[in-house]
Amino acid sequence: MRILVVGGAGYVGSTSVETFVAAGHAVTVYDNLSTGHRESVLPAARLVIGEIHDTPLLERVLREERIEAVLHCAARSLVGESMADPALYYHANVAGGVSLLDAMKRAGVDRLVYSSTAAVYGEPRRVPIAEADRTQPINPYGETKLAFEGAMRWFAAAHDFRAISLRYFNVAGATERNGEDHEPETHLVPLVLRVAAGEASHVQIFGQDYPTPDGTCIRDFIHVRDLGNAHLLALEATGEGDPSLEVYNLGSAAGFSVREVVEAARRVTGRAIPARVVKRRSGDPPVLVASSRRARRELGWQPQHSKLDEMLGDAWTWRASHPDGYRDGVRAESDGRAAVAVGAGEAAEQNGGGQAALSQTGTSSTPAAIENA
Ligand code: UFG
Repeated sequence: MRILVVGGAGYVGSTSVETFVAAGHAVTVYDNLSTGHRESVLPAARLVIGEIHDTPLLERVLREERIEAVLHCAARSLVGESMADPALYYHANVAGGVSLLDAMKRAGVDRLVYSSTAAVYGEPRRVPIAEADRTQPINPYGETKLAFEGAMRWFAAAHDFRAISLRYFNVAGATERNGEDHEPETHLVPLVLRVAAGEASHVQIFGQDYPTPDGTCIRDFIHVRDLGNAHLLALEATGEGDPSLEVYNLGSAAGFSVREVVEAARRVTGRAIPARVVKRRSGDPPVLVASSRRARRELGWQPQHSKLDEMLGDAWTWRASHPDGYRDGVRAESDGRAAVAVGAGEAAEQNGGGQAALSQTGTSSTPAAIENA
């Protein structure tokens, strides 16, 4: 399959690219590198640097690369930021997504898999959460992800798309090559490992007065490797059947509390990891655990790495080999992969009447908006 991964230089996207390439697929990554990392993209994949709002460039890439299916994991994903600046989230997650749908429609590409989130459920009425349960987001992040699912549903009906939305719960772990490197970092696992590495004095536990056995929140962790396999199965599943939008939860159906995560990290790293209980973080539901029965039954998905110690161990190993995270540009330039091509849709329209006017920097003389080709 020829696959376009939009947002393929991020944590989830880059690890999925590894899975696709290992399975023999041809992969193109489309990313604006705002939060993704150039270094995370496998040399075997092609990298196009562009904005998701640049519909003409997207359409051109879809056509030129003869893309058959798209994985869309380009989004803003910080709950707190979404509360402070909803426009940012509607612009990126809804308008950006619609630009992609539009480009796919124009290029005649009708297979799409989408990275959605447990945040679409808001405060669940029951756990484990099933796909048919009420969706009532409690922040603009979840609301915009749900809104895009709606757009996918209507595009599927109007333009014969076969689309799958995967609602992830808490993703953790790493591959040998790629791991989690966000700035700012808000997620529990990387923050705990920062303390283990001596980069922070202690981890904050947000509330110990929840109605759970140890008083801390419970989350359903899924290894990023298992997510890569789920993406591949979902992409394959869009190759058959009627036009539709199907929705699947992805989790391990086993919840771990914040305290259990800290304990596991102490075990795995052999470090003390001081923790301090502080007040609750607003908007945190006490328990989020997925029922992934549907994904197992219909996609044949079998998570292989559900043990918390394995997820933490892999994330810790990746940190050890990347003590400064990704050092964007530094290694890329020294290994001869510095051919940056920047797509500029507006400029393209002004300059070339629909021709590809792509500004190019770096060393390559290849006239395409492609890196690593
Ligand atoms: N936590 C701490 N201390 C920290 C960071 C987190 O105690 O320093 C706690 C949180 O309060 C929460 C748990 O650890 O109870 C997990 O928090 P994360 O920020 O790692 O992840 P979330 O559960 O908040 O986020 C996940 C997904 C989001 C999604 C959300 C839905 O990563 O994409 O679930 O609620 F929006």
